[in-house]
Amino acid sequence: MRSFLKATLIWTGIAAIGAVLVVGFGLYNVSARQGHLPGVSWVLHTAYRNAVRLRSPSEDEVPEISAPALIALGRGHYQDACAFCHAMPDQSRSQTALSMLPAPPHITDAVSDWDPQHMYWIVKNGVKMSGMPGWPSTKRDDDVWSVVAFLDAVKQAERPVSAAETDLAGIVQERDDEADQNSRIASIYQSGCGRCHGENGFADGNVLIPRLDTLPAAYIEASLQAYRSGARQSGIMQQAASQLSDEQIFEIAAYIAENGRDVSGEYQTGSLDPALVARGDLLAHGGDEKANIPSCISCHGPASRPKSDRFPPLAGQSEVFLREQLTLWKSGIRGGTDRAVMMHEAIPNLTEDDILALAQYYASLPSGR
Ligand code: HEC
Ligand code: HEC
Ligand code: HEC
Repeated sequence: MRSFLKATLIWTGIAAIGAVLVVGFGLYNVSARQGHLPGVSWVLHTAYRNAVRLRSPSEDEVPEISAPALIALGRGHYQDACAFCHAMPDQSRSQTALSMLPAPPHITDAVSDWDPQHMYWIVKNGVKMSGMPGWPSTKRDDDVWSVVAFLDAVKQAERPVSAAETDLAGIVQERDDEADQNSRIASIYQSGCGRCHGENGFADGNVLIPRLDTLPAAYIEASLQAYRSGARQSGIMQQAASQLSDEQIFEIAAYIAENGRDVSGEYQTGSLDPALVARGDLLAHGGDEKANIPSCISCHGPASRPKSDRFPPLAGQSEVFLREQLTLWKSGIRGGTDRAVMMHEAIPNLTEDDILALAQYYASLPSGR
């Protein structure tokens, strides 16, 4: 027994000295140009795969992710935030991406082994010590599903997005060419923002992406700053805004506001419920004194001109977007500019039905500034 203890002590001592040499003196080569020691890759990779399976939500928690609008939104974010590592489905990875260790798998391989709930976990949390980043927003993860929708579309069909992508590549190319004559800022908008928000800010009618063509410049500028600082949370917009300087934010906001309205820009309103719209109309105009809900009109219109260039007009905005924002306000997640406090006071007593009615009312109005 004694000799066993002695042997254990000696081996523990040797292991400790070994660890000090390896860690303390930098003997383990962390160069990405050399692979891990035999076995280390296997251990890390197996730990990673098992951790993802253990922690992912259950299959039942996966929402509907086949809607084209959701896939389009996810593709827009993927192009900007992921493609430089994983490549687009019909592109190959850059040599720099291939020189990472582990190298980011090509998108078509990255999705092949995982179900949507696993992809959700990976995209939300990232993978430590691998270069795979976590989701930019710490308070909100509903928008992660748009990226999962795109990944799943890539998985479902071998090249489901290639046609759209070719179009997209065409648009970006064309716009880049035009940019020779147009201003630098127009080109930043068209290639960086227009991919989601559309050429004129109407997002080609995608109801998940707010229209910008009705918003005043000062509100757009302040909102971009709020996304960039994290005061307003959205993994998608925090990523997009993080790449802009103060000056670019100012110029882009002015560009959007001056760029004119999309004349074809009205959402389909056929599915709105007239009874709800009428209820929303009453509430928006009169508020509800008993429930301490102010009239929305006093700040948001409808009016021929915005009530203030720091208040977003809501008329003709997408119903889905309005409902989502009101729900975020109510749950305390929606921050924004230094005027956001006005909404924090206006919102707490709205019920879910009020939210639905108000969103339907504003969506039913013709868009106007
Ligand atoms: C800086 C490079 C980088 C960026 C940017 C990046 N990833 Fe990754 N990603 C990786 C690496 C490296 C791995 C491999 C992790 C591992 O195997 O340990 C990975 C793994 C993955 C996987 C799992 C693949 C598998 O085979 O297990 C998915 C899915 C994925 N990434 C999706 C995304 C999405 C979506 C985005 C954008 C929101 C993104 N990645 C952004 C580097 C990146
Ligand atoms: C990947 C798609 C995508 C890209 C790229 C993108 N946006 Fe957005 N944008 C969105 C979505 C989705 C929202 C709603 C986010 C939220 O819930 O707050 C949004 C919200 C906004 C808002 C707030 C609108 C409001 O009514 O409050 C502004 C302003 C905006 N984007 C401007 C831009 C600008 C400028 C760029 C380019 C630098 C850009 N966006 C790039 C998808 C995108
Ligand atoms: C005292 C003025 C005020 C009142 C009253 C008010 N709001 Fe707001 N609202 C604001 C301001 C300011 C913002 C922009 C905040 C920010 O993002 O910083 C805003 C933002 C919003 C947004 C997000 C719009 C977008 O494009 O992101 C919605 C939706 C909204 N309000 C709905 C309502 C509704 C519905 C009511 C009535 C129940 C209401 N508001 C009452 C001032 C007000």
